Amino acid sequence: MRKDYKTTDFLVIGSGIAGLSYALKVAEFGKVLMITKSDEDESNTKYAQGGIAAVTYAPDSFEKHIQDTLIAGDGLCDEAVVRLVITEAPERIQELISWGAQFDKNEQGNYDLGKEGGHSENRILHHKDNTGYEIERALIHQVRTHKNIEVLDHHFAIEIITQHHLGMYINSSTPNIACYGVYALNLETGNTDVILAKVTLMASGGAGNVYATTTNPKIATGDGVAMVYRAKGKVENMEFIQFHPTALYQPGVQPAFLITEAMRGDGAVLRNQSGEEFMKRYDERGSLAPRDIVARAIDNEMKLRGEDFVWLDCKGISKERLLNHFPMIFEKCLSLGIDISKDMIPVVPACHYMCGGIKVDVNAKTSISNLLAAGECSSTGLHGANRLASNSLLEALVYSHRAANSAIEMMNESTFKDGIPEWDIKGTADPEEMVLITQSYKELQAIMSNYVGIVRSNIRLERALQRLQILNRETENMYRRTTLSTALCELRNLILVGYLIIKAAKQRKENRGLHYSIDFKI
Ligand code: FAD
Ligand code: SIN
Repeated sequence: MRKDYKTTDFLVIGSGIAGLSYALKVAEFGKVLMITKSDEDESNTKYAQGGIAAVTYAPDSFEKHIQDTLIAGDGLCDEAVVRLVITEAPERIQELISWGAQFDKNEQGNYDLGKEGGHSENRILHHKDNTGYEIERALIHQVRTHKNIEVLDHHFAIEIITQHHLGMYINSSTPNIACYGVYALNLETGNTDVILAKVTLMASGGAGNVYATTTNPKIATGDGVAMVYRAKGKVENMEFIQFHPTALYQPGVQPAFLITEAMRGDGAVLRNQSGEEFMKRYDERGSLAPRDIVARAIDNEMKLRGEDFVWLDCKGISKERLLNHFPMIFEKCLSLGIDISKDMIPVVPACHYMCGGIKVDVNAKTSISNLLAAGECSSTGLHGANRLASNSLLEALVYSHRAANSAIEMMNESTFKDGIPEWDIKGTADPEEMVLITQSYKELQAIMSNYVGIVRSNIRLERALQRLQILNRETENMYRRTTLSTALCELRNLILVGYLIIKAAKQRKENRGLHYSIDFKI
């Protein structure tokens, strides 16, 4: 084994809720190395607003939460997975609380449970309107103080290491593809490090930046899905990209600031620019219908009327409640001259969540040995064709726990692989012009937004595919001859994610959940 290679029992890629909660569990059994490509707390997790869905008190019940999840998933959820996630929720939430995360309580000392679209009961545990920040804070505090966990921030995982790097030809039917660790770009030194691990967890989050308008931070570029697909691992359900109905309308501002669905749970309603509560025309559940239905209705309303946004009217919520439950949104809007106790908020749908991803079994195992996956980069079967609001933080906790159990077993049977070559930089040079990368990034986002968005069609998908093939050729060519950088690797990964979304969308010959094509009108 070369001395300059790093080795670890457990390698974790990503420092959101999935990576952090897993690290805390496996750290009791061996050395953990966590790499993350930005600052250690930067993640989708940090921006979560509404909260975590879990059954806490009657009249709620596991069965109601299960049925709500199945209905939102439009017939494609794996019911066994739905049942296990929802019934394991209380234990995982208690653990999160024991790590220091705090959830709001009411005057009686009970949890102040919020409601979101598609939920038949109030069941969302939250910390004001910045639940994700609170969770990330608590978990990072625990991780920082754990003697067995080392965190390397500003380290970008480029490729997982498999037999391919030992010169073996691999395709998607090769049996026993194995993960030996990763090549990771150290963004401070510019070197590409070899990190060897007995077990690797992919917890790299979502891919919102494949679209021009997203609630996701810059880091959400689908790297994990792209790495696993390139390594010939299985991914699934990539056509199901969730658009959140209500992002603040601020053209050109990225990421789009989310206006939590919990506001509609508290009584806010959507209105078109004539003041009409239009959702009633689309679904009897009105503004609290599941997200796919609301986002599509807004999109339709804006297209029919030729308008750029709809209004969210919060005047039905008392000022006191707005200040207590939604202080961050109150402040943000006020800073833009919108007093939400009196004024309506201009909102538009924005890309928000990737329901599909790296296929895992109930133990978080991927199709590649020694590689586990959890959180938004994974596809467990919980969400089906459309995720129920606030089920994703929960899924990440449940599957990280299951991944930890798998990893502890796998670690004893795994050894470090000999003979892994260092990263090959032959024939590469500094990029000639950054514009070659930035322009392709914008083109990709425009293609995906205009042709593969909330409403699709065969002709749009075909056109998007043709355009992506050109971007892919140019980018792969640049990748072979250019010194690695975050911008280049992210562009390459996003193009692949875009391709996977289009490919899956073209294969789905029906309208289901988040996939809606005008060619399959019911
Ligand atoms: P993330 O939290 O995104 O973490 C991914 C980590 O991987 C990051 O640290 C990132 O830097 C790192 N990473 C990525 N690629 C690489 C690479 N190549 N190399 C090294 N590191 C890498 N869900 C809910 O259930 N309830 C909510 O209320 C809610 N609100 C939301 C609000 C917003 C604005 C957004 C954007 C999402 C919201 N979601 C919510 C979704 C939820 O936050 C995410 O699905 C969840 O946090 C994902 O957690 P994760 O650990 O899988 O990924
Ligand atoms: C929100 O607060 O509206 C987001 C909840 C989620 O994405 O699950």
